[in-house]
Amino acid sequence: MIKKEMIQALNNQLNKEFHSAYIYLGMSAYASANGFNGCAKWFNLQYQEEIVHAMKLFRYLEEQNANIKLKDIKALNVKSDSIVEVFKSAYKHEQKMTKALNNLSDLAMKQKDHATYSLLQWYINEQVEEEALFNEIIDKLEMVGNDGYGLYSIDQELGSRVFVDPTTKA
Ligand code: FEO
Repeated sequence: MIKKEMIQALNNQLNKEFHSAYIYLGMSAYASANGFNGCAKWFNLQYQEEIVHAMKLFRYLEEQNANIKLKDIKALNVKSDSIVEVFKSAYKHEQKMTKALNNLSDLAMKQKDHATYSLLQWYINEQVEEEALFNEIIDKLEMVGNDGYGLYSIDQELGSRVFVDPTTKA
């Protein structure tokens, strides 16, 4: 049976996932206001992915008959001089998420909570993909620097992203 401490920790993670969604929505707004419409769409899809992450956790807590506690979500108003800095702060955020999920996984292991441990492995695998994705975009943006055509091309490329529900990925 799931322990109280674990329910609390998963409630915190639930808030972190919704916070991530909110962060990416803020980044989408920044990109849109600064002429990066492709990046705006990309961040909007990232926002949607985070909602899926949050809701997967929400459903798990429901299945465990847990008392779900929704918490306030802190807003993010992006102040940045460059789009690459925005992606860098997103990448840093994902690294923090990975750390939080690893800590949760340690706790599940310690408590011999196999069901929660198994759920968390899905999130940890997602993080590997997310960090790689952000890294790749940062590399590309750093390669082009301030070159207008380069930035335009990357923006176009990011704008072609389509939504894939992460829970349906193989
Ligand atoms: Fe749900 Fe990007 O961590």
